[in-house]
Amino acid sequence: MSHIFFTQNIRQDFQEWLKEQNFSALCVLTDENTHLHCYPILAEALVQFPHFQYTIPSGEQAKILPTCSQIWEYWLSQHLDRKALIINLGGGVLGDMSGFCAATYKRGIRFVQVPTTLLAQVDASVGGKLGIDFQGFKNVIGSFQAPLAVWIDTVFLKTLPTRELQSGMAEILKHCLIADHTQWIKLVTILSSENTKIKLPTILSSEKMDWQEWVQHSVKIKESIVAQDMHEQHIRKLLNFGHTIGHAIETYFLTHTDTPLLHGEAIAWGMIAESWLSMRHTGLTEENFKEIRQTIQNYFPFLQILPALEQIALETIANLALQDKKNAHNTINCVLLQDIGKAIFDIPITSQEIVESLLACCQI
Ligand SMILES: NC(=O)c1ccc[n+]([C@@H]2O[C@H](COP(=O)([O-])OP(=O)(O)OC[C@H]3O[C@@H](n4cnc5c(N)ncnc54)[C@H](O)[C@@H]3O)[C@@H](O)[C@H]2O)c1
Repeated sequence: MSHIFFTQNIRQDFQEWLKEQNFSALCVLTDENTHLHCYPILAEALVQFPHFQYTIPSGEQAKILPTCSQIWEYWLSQHLDRKALIINLGGGVLGDMSGFCAATYKRGIRFVQVPTTLLAQVDASVGGKLGIDFQGFKNVIGSFQAPLAVWIDTVFLKTLPTRELQSGMAEILKHCLIADHTQWIKLVTILSSENTKIKLPTILSSEKMDWQEWVQHSVKIKESIVAQDMHEQHIRKLLNFGHTIGHAIETYFLTHTDTPLLHGEAIAWGMIAESWLSMRHTGLTEENFKEIRQTIQNYFPFLQILPALEQIALETIANLALQDKKNAHNTINCVLLQDIGKAIFDIPITSQEIVESLLACCQI
C-alpha cells in the first residue's frame, strides 16, 4: 500500500520528503490547467531539485493511447531511467494515465500522485487503479500499481471550478452510501432541497464544507476496503456502486454526443438508477430510495440531461453496460444497496432492467 500524506503545506512537506529520497531524476506531469494553477505551488517545493516538466492536454478525451505515446516519447527523450520519479500533478485523468505510463515504462518506474481535483483526492489517487480509455470504452486498458506515495493538500481545490467540485461530491456521496450512514445524514442536512441552484456553489466554496474532513473521511473508507482486496476479487467491488450504469452513461455521452458529462455527473445518475434497482433486488426501502434520489439531485441541480433521453439512447446505454470490466460470463454484475451505508456486490441484473431503471429515473 502507498503512504498517503495529508498536508496543509505541500510546499514545505513535499520538499522535506524529497530530501530523504534518492531519485536519479524527477519529472512533473501536468495538464494544461494544472500547469497554470497547481504547478506554481508545487514548484516552490522543487526549487532545490532540478526537474523535467511535461504538459499534456486536459480532459477525458485525452485519456487515450496517443497521449501515452507522447508521454513515453518525452521520458525516453530525457533518458529517464528506472530510478527516476514521476510526479503526477492533476486530476483523475492525468493520475490514471500517467500512472499507467509509469507502471509500464521500462517495466515500471516509481510515481507519486499529487491529486488536484476533489474527485482525485477522495477517490482516483487512492488504490492503484491505472488506465486509459480505448475504442470509446472507459478504462479498458490498464493495470493495478500502487504509487510510491499520495500527497493530498486541499489548497489545490481553491482554483477548481464549481462543476468539478460537484463532480467530486459524487464519490463522497458514494462512500457514505456504501459504508457510513452517519456521514450520509450530515450530507443530507448540509444541503436541503430549497434553493439548491443558488446555494450549491456558495456552499461548495464556503467553510460549510470542511474539505479536509471530507477528503480524509472518503480516503479512510477507500483505503480500508482496498487494503483487504487490492485486485478487486471481492470486497473492493463495493466501490463500484453507481459505476456499472454510471460508466455506461459516461461512455454514451463521450462517444454519442457533443456534450460529455463529467465522471461524477455520470456516476450521480448511475447511483440513482442503481438505488432504484436496489429496491427490486436487495430490499432498499422506497423511503430510502427517495431520500437518496433527492439528495443526489440537490448536489446536482443542473443535471437535467437524462430526462431528455429517448428509448434508443437508453438501450444503447444498457448495451454499453454489458461491456463493463466487472462482468463475467455475460452477466451484468452490479453493486446494490441493502440499506443506506450497507452495500452488497455481484448482484446479477439484466440489460432490460437497466433500461427500466433509467426510465424510472427519467420520470422524476
Ligand atoms: N483510478 C481510480 O480509482 C479512479 C476512480 C474514480 C475516477 N477515476 C477516473 O478519474 C477521471 C476523472 O477525474 P477528474 O474528475 O479529476 O477529472 P480531470 O482529471 O479531467 O480534471 C478535471 C478538470 O479540472 C482541471 N483541474 C484539475 N485540477 C485543477 C485545479 N486544482 N484547478 C483548476 N483546474 C483543475 C483539469 O485540467 C480538468 O480540466 C476519470 O477518467 C475516471 O475514470 C479513476
